[in-house]
Amino acid sequence: MTSALDRAGTFTLGDRKVRRMGYGAMQLAGPGVFGPPKDPDQARRVLREAVAAGVNHIDTCDYYGPHVVNQIIREALAPYPDELVLVTKIGARRGADASWLPAFSREELISAVHDNLKHLGLERLEVVNYRRMGKVHAPSEGPIEAEVEVLAELREQGLIGHIGLSNVTAAQVRAARKIAPIACVQNQYNLAHREDEALIDELAEQGIAYVPFFPLGGFTPLQSETLSRVAASLNATPMQVALAWLLQRAPNILLIPGTSSVAHLKENLAAAELVLPAEALERLARIGTEAVTAG
Ligand SMILES: NC(=O)c1ccc[n+]([C@@H]2O[C@H](COP(=O)([O-])OP(=O)(O)OC[C@H]3O[C@@H](n4cnc5c(N)ncnc54)[C@H](OP(=O)(O)O)[C@@H]3O)[C@@H](O)[C@H]2O)c1
Repeated sequence: MTSALDRAGTFTLGDRKVRRMGYGAMQLAGPGVFGPPKDPDQARRVLREAVAAGVNHIDTCDYYGPHVVNQIIREALAPYPDELVLVTKIGARRGADASWLPAFSREELISAVHDNLKHLGLERLEVVNYRRMGKVHAPSEGPIEAEVEVLAELREQGLIGHIGLSNVTAAQVRAARKIAPIACVQNQYNLAHREDEALIDELAEQGIAYVPFFPLGGFTPLQSETLSRVAASLNATPMQVALAWLLQRAPNILLIPGTSSVAHLKENLAAAELVLPAEALERLARIGTEAVTAG
């Protein structure tokens, strides 16, 4: 099936070719990514619209809700189209007060894989990211070998197709690659948070996907005068420019913008067709030094 999303190209994630414009499902849970959404029909509609438009890479996990988002994905999309790659993550759990807690013992990792399989209705998870908690939204050094070894075992058993890492440093990626192939890295990166510049380039050379979380700024979407001005000059929206900038930043960047709204989904997917001229890229490069709000 061809799609307007093809304009942004594809990348091989593990051993599956996916469109670079994907979708992140975190916004489909209730407020604070906890409990059911206000409008479950709308949540299912967003997923079906995304797939109908050609999205074949969806990011999720069982601690969104918890379980709620995976269940909505299953209700909306199963039986899954052959070309759809669902990527999940493990390493955290939710407290009864909606807190985000680490859960990375051997037993917790194994049971998280089984929970994802059950709630998504799958026999094998195509890609599983080990999400390191450490600092909440920024990587911090520390050993990760024991956790990666558990994922490698689950991969040998055929429960996982490929291993990814999330919220990690370059040194942790190198350490993990000595144990098993790494298909992707999912860290915070956007126009206002560019700490991973060198890591993105290193991964591009190795054919590893880089999947920025909070591509639009996360819980507080990006706000910048320069971004708004560039967007107006291109007849685009600021969010479209933020996504197009990521697509142009490196060929191994795969996008998973999140939204609970069909209108925002359509707006975001249209960014696959937006090409930013050199002059716009230069203006956007200055954003890191301006006052920018990002969650
Ligand atoms: N590995 C990790 O630790 C980690 C952490 C966070 C997220 N993630 C993944 O990354 C994905 C993306 O991150 P995210 O969803 O948190 O943040 P995001 O994609 O940066 O932004 C989502 C926010 O932007 C709003 N939004 C989306 N499109 C918009 C548009 N066109 N105009 C105005 N507002 C718009 C959404 O609200 P509406 O719902 O109203 O559109 C939502 O508040 C998640 O869905 C999740 O799969 C991973």
